[in-house]
Amino acid sequence: MEKFIITGGNPLSGSVRISGSKNAVLPILAASLLSSGVSIIHDVPKLLDVQVMKEVLEFLGCQVQWSGSVMTVDGAQVDSIEINDMLMRKMRASNLVMGPLLSRFGKVRISYPGGCAIGSRPMDLHLKGLIQMGAVIEEKFGFIDARAKNGRLNGAEICLDFPSVGATENLMMAATLAKGRTTISNSAKEPEIYDLQCFLNSMGAKISGAGTDLITIEGVDDLASTEYTVIPDRIEAGTFLIAGAITKSEIKVENVRVKHLDSLMFKLREMGLSLEEVENGVIINGKENLKPVDIKTMPYPGFPTDLQPQMMALLTLANGTSIVSENIFENRFKHVDELRRMGANIKAEGKLAIIKGVKGLSGAYVNTTDLRAGAALVLTGLAAQGATVVDEIYHIDRGYENFEQKLKKLGAKIIRVTTS
Ligand code: UD1
Repeated sequence: MEKFIITGGNPLSGSVRISGSKNAVLPILAASLLSSGVSIIHDVPKLLDVQVMKEVLEFLGCQVQWSGSVMTVDGAQVDSIEINDMLMRKMRASNLVMGPLLSRFGKVRISYPGGCAIGSRPMDLHLKGLIQMGAVIEEKFGFIDARAKNGRLNGAEICLDFPSVGATENLMMAATLAKGRTTISNSAKEPEIYDLQCFLNSMGAKISGAGTDLITIEGVDDLASTEYTVIPDRIEAGTFLIAGAITKSEIKVENVRVKHLDSLMFKLREMGLSLEEVENGVIINGKENLKPVDIKTMPYPGFPTDLQPQMMALLTLANGTSIVSENIFENRFKHVDELRRMGANIKAEGKLAIIKGVKGLSGAYVNTTDLRAGAALVLTGLAAQGATVVDEIYHIDRGYENFEQKLKKLGAKIIRVTTS
């Protein structure tokens, strides 16, 4: 078991480089299954979730090499179309191999992804879309068995009930090798979807419209080898901007696509913070007396649910009352009780949390329940007086590359300790 011990109350300074995006690289790695060629992927972050996706690809028969930030996937020898329960339970995003395997081999079998700490996270939208493309789906004994009638999926006109990121990605990948044209309307518009389109097109796919709510995929017969660089992680960038704000520090966050951070930067400016856009990055200038703001999480370009806990941590120190409304996941206020232990004044009910700003926070022993909640607790620890112990940090290792090293380089007092 590993924990972080943080001594709070120290300002940060200097610059931090943002790693490749977790939520872009996971579907891109899954998409490499669509080709019997070799995919060379750059700026792959060293994360637990990426390690699990590597294990999934190897389990299926891919040859995978991971050296530094470059991962090479050779999909020539794929000899399985089944993901076992253990790998599905390690990471929900393993379900992203469903579309590629069904598209390339006409069949796939995955264990049903369970619920997770932040909500139930069903797969109905993924399955409905695949059925429209001619898949026959059987769900029994906790497994989903899907087969394409006549061995190949057909193009279809799909309209998603909700712009699910995972469903949009799975269906885009499924449609890539399907016969004919597929359209996905009310598709998710996240930058990671556009990145997936660019990756697939670099392999020879014919996809347009990603980044809007209508994606068109003209099915092709096969895909070739490619070399591709993943976009920077906008959630990691946002987390570091909030780290600057909560410690009232000036820091530079580098390797950022500023456009991807519009909704966060808008809110930080509304709180009175100054953000300067510089080449390839943003400088945040922390200050006292931040104004309270209301946040509503929404699909992109709205405020990201993946930054809600970190933003709530910042609002605990604002000068007044803020309201946070969580509209994507039904169970994403697990950090509230832990923030309260540190002196925050928060009331949460249903999808709403009311945060009354306090003058200061104090260190405490807190538990990480999920990835972004963990990041929020670390940020709070940096701002609190005294020592904070953040436990169960494997959640944080799922999605932040070298988190404590990056914070240390900025001057934070944080150490990782291992206990039995
Ligand atoms: C992705 C991100 C995750 C982020 C989330 C929302 C990855 C690997 N993960 O997760 O970090 O928090 O987008 O931005 O990219 N839903 C259904 N039926 C479905 C699919 C989804 O009802 O078939 C619901 C979910 O329960 C949830 C909402 O849609 O309430 C959003 O989920 P979705 O966009 O699919 O999130 P993920 O792709 O799982």
